[in-house]
Amino acid sequence: MATHPKIVAVGGGKGGVGKSTVSILLAFWFARIGKKTILVDADLGGANLHTFMGIKNPPRTLNDFVMRRYDSLEEICLDTELENLRLIAGASDILSFANIHVSQRVKLIQNLSRLDADYLVIDLGAGTSYNVLDFFLIADKKVVVLIPQPISIQNAYAFIRNTVYRRLSQVVNQKSSLYSLIKTAMDTNNELKLRSINELLQIVEELDGKEAMTVLQEEIRKIQPFVITNMAREKRDKGAGRVIQMVAEKYLMIHPVDMGSIVYDQKLYATVTEMIPLTSLIRSSEAFASVYGMAMTLLRDE
Ligand SMILES: Nc1ncnc2c1ncn2[C@@H]1O[C@H](COP(=O)(O)OP(=O)(O)O)[C@@H](O)[C@H]1O
Ligand SMILES: [Mg+2]
Repeated sequence: MATHPKIVAVGGGKGGVGKSTVSILLAFWFARIGKKTILVDADLGGANLHTFMGIKNPPRTLNDFVMRRYDSLEEICLDTELENLRLIAGASDILSFANIHVSQRVKLIQNLSRLDADYLVIDLGAGTSYNVLDFFLIADKKVVVLIPQPISIQNAYAFIRNTVYRRLSQVVNQKSSLYSLIKTAMDTNNELKLRSINELLQIVEELDGKEAMTVLQEEIRKIQPFVITNMAREKRDKGAGRVIQMVAEKYLMIHPVDMGSIVYDQKLYATVTEMIPLTSLIRSSEAFASVYGMAMTLLRDE
């Protein structure tokens, strides 16, 4: 029987926090320990994984698939210089993820699950459009990247919060009053003054009974993001993931895994501007080493 690749999606914070870098480092370690891995650049607004990988002009991109120039994703996979690691490049032109039609999204997801790989690492890029959230939600492992700054922690939390409400809105009937309640609660300034998932679920229980409430609670519990703090410079920077963990437990009733931090590494910063492939730094970069344990955690309980 054919097995489907496991999907690791990397999303969360705004641009510049290191989502692409983390995607590559994770994919690198998966490939290195022998897992057939494909990096997928789904950041259709600012695709740049190919640049990080030392490919200037990718001959085929995800755009070619969406525009139906190729029938299968397998055809647009590019080999990289690393064993076990292939790349599906993104496209910097026209398309934005937010504009992909539902039918295209379904086709894309189906095709992703047919790829010949053990792991897909999808760089979702920035944003909280439904397309981004839905891709994040279908992933087996959901990674959120942030940097140790208040605004970035807020962004990451807002992203996780959005995924929780998005999931709830997916599982309830769109015609029900519950659906509109969820939509209302999603707005942080909602007139019902609902501040937490807990409060929302209490109303659900009153309206629809305990069973309905438990179903939703279980759906939320399954969203267990892995939080990575990137560019840590000082000891106290390492606590950023813990903050997300506490706030998410209190207000969202979910239990993110704090994956710890990746050190700020001056060498990494230079790679993009100088067009040095990230993978050429493997042996000398401290940041690479810090991701090894994280990659192993994501591989656990397959
Ligand atoms: N741990 C790190 N140390 C130093 N520079 C980093 C680190 N992680 C990422 N960078 C650099 O920060 C910039 C933004 O990273 P990138 O992965 O492109 O972020 P995003 O995909 O979230 O926009 C890049 O120049 C990258 O090389
Ligand atoms: Mg990026």
